[in-house]
Amino acid sequence: MIPEPILHASPAFTRIEIPPGEERRLSITVTSPAAARLIAITTDCRCISSITPTPIELLAGKETQIDLRAVGVLPGVKTVSMRTSTGTVRIQVQVLTTGLGTGADVLKEVFTRARTAKASAWFIIHDLRGEIRNCGCSAGSLGGIDKIAALPTRCSELGKDLSTHFVLSGDVDGPRPGVGGTLAKVGWTVGDPAVAVTARPESVLSTPGVIAIIPTTPIAVENARLLRPLLLGGMMTEVLLVSAEGRIIEHMSMPIDASLPSQPDVLTAFEDPLTYTIDDHSQPSQSCATCHSAAHKSWSISAHARAWASLKEADKTDSCVVCHSAAISGPVKKKTLSPNVQCASCHQGAEAHVASAGTVHTKGTTDCRSCHDARHDPGFNPIAAWAQIAHGK
Ligand code: HEC
Ligand code: HEC
Ligand code: HEC
Ligand code: HEC
Repeated sequence: MIPEPILHASPAFTRIEIPPGEERRLSITVTSPAAARLIAITTDCRCISSITPTPIELLAGKETQIDLRAVGVLPGVKTVSMRTSTGTVRIQVQVLTTGLGTGADVLKEVFTRARTAKASAWFIIHDLRGEIRNCGCSAGSLGGIDKIAALPTRCSELGKDLSTHFVLSGDVDGPRPGVGGTLAKVGWTVGDPAVAVTARPESVLSTPGVIAIIPTTPIAVENARLLRPLLLGGMMTEVLLVSAEGRIIEHMSMPIDASLPSQPDVLTAFEDPLTYTIDDHSQPSQSCATCHSAAHKSWSISAHARAWASLKEADKTDSCVVCHSAAISGPVKKKTLSPNVQCASCHQGAEAHVASAGTVHTKGTTDCRSCHDARHDPGFNPIAAWAQIAHGK
């Protein structure tokens, strides 16, 4: 049995565009079927926060409005969690922004302060969950990693007198294999024992050689060595200035943004390939036109018939083409695609139907949401969308 939803928050996904450094407000409504108490509202990014004070009493079945404030500092998908006495409900906000562009200034500041304090500088990036691409500052499917790669070189240009360390921690290679290995070649260390990542920070607090500790679960302990990198995905670098005795003197955060230099050659290690064959001359929908001229006409003026043209040359890769094209079936041509969303992208079993001159029925239609999913079309409204492409016999 599927349990009744305890809570509902709407909209579940919002996309907002924020000019660098500016602020935007957005509202969410929370509804609970039974009376409950909204205890806390937390976010995984400092750039988005609640301005509605908690706790709040939620009345049974009544909508409660929560106001959020977002700042255009770091792009990406942020999660807002609302913890209540009956459970937690989460929504996501995609912030589109080019960022503040302060990365280079922070880096210079790091050098000035480290020299004054005679400290070494530790650059720590935790959990590169494949979100590096969201940095919005460099092109390519892994934009951002080029800037992380350039950091050691940039630091040696700023001065060789300073001792610098570059540490990656967390699930570095989880979603995108090769991140750790590529960055290791340019001066980063993956999993340096000086940066402990643990669910039990107490156990390593007094371990010699451990400079910083990243707790993997929320803990109440307060200690100068505990880092809580709030930002996942490597858009932010934690910078520690560490004394000769191994004590953290200062903790700064440096955004990986457009102001930092790039080392674009590392991107080639992550090239998103095109393993499908694209048959530019195939026009599978043409085979339907003779018997379904009205449907064909309607389709030919729709966005589906132009979907291929939306892809830039560089984006014609496996991860993009699948929804902007149609598979041409047949055993040999299994991996051959026809550009654009075709009749057969939606009408399954179209091939047997054509072969039988329409006597064998098609096998139903593909769910629109298989392409118009939360990521590619978060505002998809099936009724309004069908009205735009409606066609019949
Ligand atoms: C095979 C993937 C796929 C399926 C299935 C699919 N679509 Fe689409 N749809 C696309 C793509 C890709 C585009 C964008 C075309 C472009 O502009 O490049 C699109 C665009 C559209 C648009 C135009 C949107 C706009 O803002 O102009 C509408 C309307 C639409 N689809 C409706 C539907 C409906 C309704 C269904 C289900 C009956 C559906 N689509 C199923 C891939 C798909
Ligand atoms: C899961 C299916 C899916 C995948 C994968 C996909 N797209 Fe799309 N794409 C869509 C749909 C659906 C639309 C239409 C949504 C809309 O108009 O908002 C669309 C629309 C677009 C548009 C037109 C947007 C506009 O403003 O008119 C572009 C450009 C685009 N996609 C590029 C890409 C690129 C680049 C990739 C690979 C990184 C990609 N798509 C991968 C489904 C997909
Ligand atoms: C984006 C998905 C999509 C594309 C592309 C598409 N169709 Fe459809 N088509 C549908 C849906 C959904 C229906 C409605 C099905 C229903 O009512 O059960 C439909 C209905 C039809 C019907 C009427 C079915 C009936 O039972 O009366 C015909 C015929 C048809 N389409 C032919 C075509 C042809 C021919 C093309 C290409 C030129 C095409 N369709 C392209 C999704 C699509
Ligand atoms: C030789 C003529 C012919 C061709 C070619 C043809 N159809 Fe049909 N189609 C028919 C006939 C006849 C029907 C049944 C109409 C009815 O029952 O009213 C039909 C029905 C359909 C239906 C309604 C559901 C079903 O399966 O009965 C869909 C959807 C459809 N066709 C899609 C397509 C698509 C997509 C293509 C091209 C890939 C295509 N047809 C090519 C003749 C054709």
